[in-house]
Amino acid sequence: MQIMGRELGSTGLAVSEVGMGCVKLGSISSGQGRRGAIRLVREAVDAGVRLFDTADAYGSGLSESVLGEALQAVREPIVVATKVGYLFDERSAGAQRVRKGWAAASTRLPLLRGHASAAYSRQDFSTAYVRQAVHGSLRRLRRDRLDLLQFHGPGPATDPELPEVVQQLLDEGLIAAFGIGSEHLDVASSWVDVAGVGAVQLAVGVLDPQAVATVIPRARAQRVGVIARGVLGGGVLAGWMRGEPTGLDPARVERVRLLAELGARCGTDVMQVAFWYARLQVGADAVLVGISSSEQLTAITRMLAHEPPPGVLSEICAIVEGAS
Ligand SMILES: NC(=O)c1ccc[n+]([C@@H]2O[C@H](COP(=O)([O-])OP(=O)(O)OC[C@H]3O[C@@H](n4cnc5c(N)ncnc54)[C@H](OP(=O)(O)O)[C@@H]3O)[C@@H](O)[C@H]2O)c1
Repeated sequence: MQIMGRELGSTGLAVSEVGMGCVKLGSISSGQGRRGAIRLVREAVDAGVRLFDTADAYGSGLSESVLGEALQAVREPIVVATKVGYLFDERSAGAQRVRKGWAAASTRLPLLRGHASAAYSRQDFSTAYVRQAVHGSLRRLRRDRLDLLQFHGPGPATDPELPEVVQQLLDEGLIAAFGIGSEHLDVASSWVDVAGVGAVQLAVGVLDPQAVATVIPRARAQRVGVIARGVLGGGVLAGWMRGEPTGLDPARVERVRLLAELGARCGTDVMQVAFWYARLQVGADAVLVGISSSEQLTAITRMLAHEPPPGVLSEICAIVEGAS
């Protein structure tokens, strides 16, 4: 199967329409082990995925190191986007245990969970730290240059120019492009205005469509690349299909119900409907999906090959945007 490619904003980076989110590559919660994780990355390449999104803190460096090993011998042009900014300890007990064993021992899960939350509590965007973090990512990813360096959850941009360290890294050829990944639309919006920002990564989809009419058109007008994430609701939609509590407010639960009903009329499910919205309505250059198994990869490639019947996208938009 061929996944369509396109340029990420004006960065010159050619990305696939669907990218693989690698947050779980460094996690034993995926239950796949290091060999399995490497196999999954290569299966994704074979399926046409040309964008992989990771962060140094994912699995305390393990996500990057798995990707580095998996992609080392791959000849296809791959874009690896990584993130820095959260302090983490590559030599932590949790990371070492996973690195050594990668056994899918569920008893280790609480330990990793505790470790993960500690990893996302402190940040540093100082010149010295960012420079050191970039060198750590280059080493783990086995590369001479990072394709897309993203600040991981930064505050709003306060300067119309790129941070000095970023400009230095670009000038030195250690990074090809710079962007940010943020949970907050106002923060992503502020970075769109900074000259030289190549891409913004933000959460958008049927559950949270606000960016579709706000940040994304502004970014596109300035040829800043947009990477959409969380398009399957970070696992919420899959959980809803399994009948699990979603934690969503009543209005969103009703929206999911209506989308699922529409999906059923088209002979499909709410995941496919959410994926249609992400691919065809959001306006991003690439849609990230957190893929953690071969089955999920197969399901995503199947969803990609399935176009909505005429008129269905408008119906999806009426449900999603009418309610947002
Ligand atoms: N601040 C930031 O910049 C930031 C923050 C968060 C995430 N990200 C990036 O965005 C990526 C994607 O985000 P996300 O993982 O939160 O959201 P997502 O892609 O909306 O949801 C991923 C979840 O959906 C489930 N899933 C995926 N494919 C499926 C399928 N075919 N069938 C059923 N369930 C499926 C998986 O659940 P299970 O694994 O439980 O099966 C997976 O955890 C991450 O991997 C990471 O690279 C960036």
